[in-house]
Amino acid sequence: MKQFISVNDVSNINTLVEKALAYKADPYKDRTLGADKRIGLLFLNPSLRTRLSTQVAAGNLGMEAIVFNVDKEGWALEFEEGAIMSGSSVEHIKDAAPILGSYFDILCIRTFPSLKNREDDYSELYISQFIKYCGVPVISLESATLHPLQSLTDIVTIKEVLSGNAAIKSKPKIVLTWAPHVKALPQCVANSFAQWINAWGEAEFVITHPEDYELSEAFTRGATITTNQDEALKDADFVYVKNWSTFKDYGKIYENDPRWMLTDAKLQLTNNAKVMHCLPVRRNVELSDEILDGPNSIVTQQAGNRVWAAQAVISEILVSSK
Ligand code: CP
Repeated sequence: MKQFISVNDVSNINTLVEKALAYKADPYKDRTLGADKRIGLLFLNPSLRTRLSTQVAAGNLGMEAIVFNVDKEGWALEFEEGAIMSGSSVEHIKDAAPILGSYFDILCIRTFPSLKNREDDYSELYISQFIKYCGVPVISLESATLHPLQSLTDIVTIKEVLSGNAAIKSKPKIVLTWAPHVKALPQCVANSFAQWINAWGEAEFVITHPEDYELSEAFTRGATITTNQDEALKDADFVYVKNWSTFKDYGKIYENDPRWMLTDAKLQLTNNAKVMHCLPVRRNVELSDEILDGPNSIVTQQAGNRVWAAQAVISEILVSSK
């Protein structure tokens, strides 16, 4: 693996998932693989899970991990080619990225979308420029449109649950449901989950959202899409809850009906579904306390698995770079 930006960088999803689960069973089995190597984690936006799980994963492989909160501690970066830098940006990515590439063996970056201009965000300018100029393998810690480490974790968690639950049929029904939120959020997690579940191909996959909340077909093609949440939830084995803002009329909140929040009553429609969320979650807005604190929630298991997904990806890149 030369980089990890989307599912397209993965030759075999199941093999990578097995690798992550093998690290969960034996975290230090490759403790010297990354000896004398350094990984840089660059954050242009906040994080809890991604930052810490990736640091832990790198440490398990014997790598030194250095975190740089670029948004708070670094110079304001310019990403546009040919920009006349007379505004607030101080340093061009063309100058910064090769320097970072000389300090690190692997670079990871988190760059959220602006949600102001769809074409700009969906061009993935920031991470593309970074890849173009840094000269070392890049891992996405969530970009403008995708969150691949989260999606790999999600499939790791689904497979882990499946392996210990004979009550779920071999091709589970997985439902991605929109949920209300007070802020306009990126489509990244939903796009990425859809892209990975479709590529994985081992589930009946349904996406449900209010009217006008369609995601990009580039990611959802292959899924059944409905605006009837109750119908979607019927017999579901997994329910993945996530808010996203509108894609067509980009970055807007059209709908905040609390009836879209998953509750125990709605869960009755499912096959005793396990409930997933990438976190952070707004309690009693996106997801009810009764679900999050109840027996069907696997959000803590899911967040814990972020370490093993990150470790599998870093390991693949280290092996390919040898
Ligand atoms: N799910 C996720 O990416 O969490 P953080 O934003 O805390 O990293």
